[in-house]
Amino acid sequence: MKDLVCKVIKNQKVGPYTYLMELEFPYTEELKPGHFLMIRAWDGLDPLSRRAFAVADKRKDSVSIYYDVVGRGTGLMAKLKEGDSIRVLGPLGKKLFPMEGQKHLLLGGGIGLSGLSLLAMELKNLGKDVFVCYGARNSKGLSMKGWLEESGLSYRIFTDDGSEGEKGSVLNALKDFGKDWVVHACGPMGMLKALQRMSEGRKVYLSLEAPMACGWGVCLGCVVRSKEGKFLRVCFDGPVFEAGEVML
Ligand SMILES: Cc1cc2nc3c(=O)[nH]c(=O)nc-3n(C[C@H](O)[C@H](O)[C@H](O)COP(=O)(O)OP(=O)(O)OC[C@H]3O[C@@H](n4cnc5c(N)ncnc54)[C@H](O)[C@@H]3O)c2cc1C
Ligand code: FES
Repeated sequence: MKDLVCKVIKNQKVGPYTYLMELEFPYTEELKPGHFLMIRAWDGLDPLSRRAFAVADKRKDSVSIYYDVVGRGTGLMAKLKEGDSIRVLGPLGKKLFPMEGQKHLLLGGGIGLSGLSLLAMELKNLGKDVFVCYGARNSKGLSMKGWLEESGLSYRIFTDDGSEGEKGSVLNALKDFGKDWVVHACGPMGMLKALQRMSEGRKVYLSLEAPMACGWGVCLGCVVRSKEGKFLRVCFDGPVFEAGEVML
């Protein structure tokens, strides 16, 4: 884990409320699918805690994140310009996506697809079969569609209101994939809970989000309960968990 001051290379609006930020990051060989970064994009201690973002892509000396502007921290991030410096803590997360098996189905809900995009490309580079299902409430929420189109991956698109792609949830696709497909998901809690109920007999991995203050296991702000009733820290014991492992 490094605490770095990194330069913004790009901070581009890619959807009505979504930005793609590219950052200098010199240790990309350490970054694996499932890792995340804690970012402070402002001077001083207000807001107090850094904000967590999945590593969506990496190059030799830089990383990309996709983020939705939802509150104060992400609002400040959206104002950053090329050449600005921000504090970045990472790589964070201990339990990451497993890459064993030949067939991998990736289910991304909204901005959750950014938690799966690095996994998708690494699996593809390993010669695995990768299929991505990307869903949002409506067509305006499909801010990573451009990435998906350029990725060369096989994919299906879903919207709740049917304004683009198939009408309904990405979870509708599950019935079309046999139990030999390893399922990886990242998205809103409601989607992950529903997937958990459908995961009987399958290998299903969920990348969780929880309110985080430290990001490295100290503050206990991000705990979820395991099936055995133990407390697990999403940042340190996850963020990726087997579907049967946690109570959501
Ligand atoms: C491991 C992890 C990876 C994430 N990856 C992404 C990503 O790639 N792209 C993206 O857009 N968002 C991602 N999120 C959610 C992102 O961290 C929140 O949207 C962000 O912290 C909101 O900050 P804010 O100040 O704008 O919002 P506010 O609502 O003002 O934030 C207030 C507080 O709530 C916490 N908080 C609010 N929403 C969330 C949330 N969903 N998850 C965790 N903490 C939250 C913040 O840490 C902060 O302390 C991730 C969260 C986690 C835990
Ligand atoms: S965010 Fe502090 S323990 Fe997880």
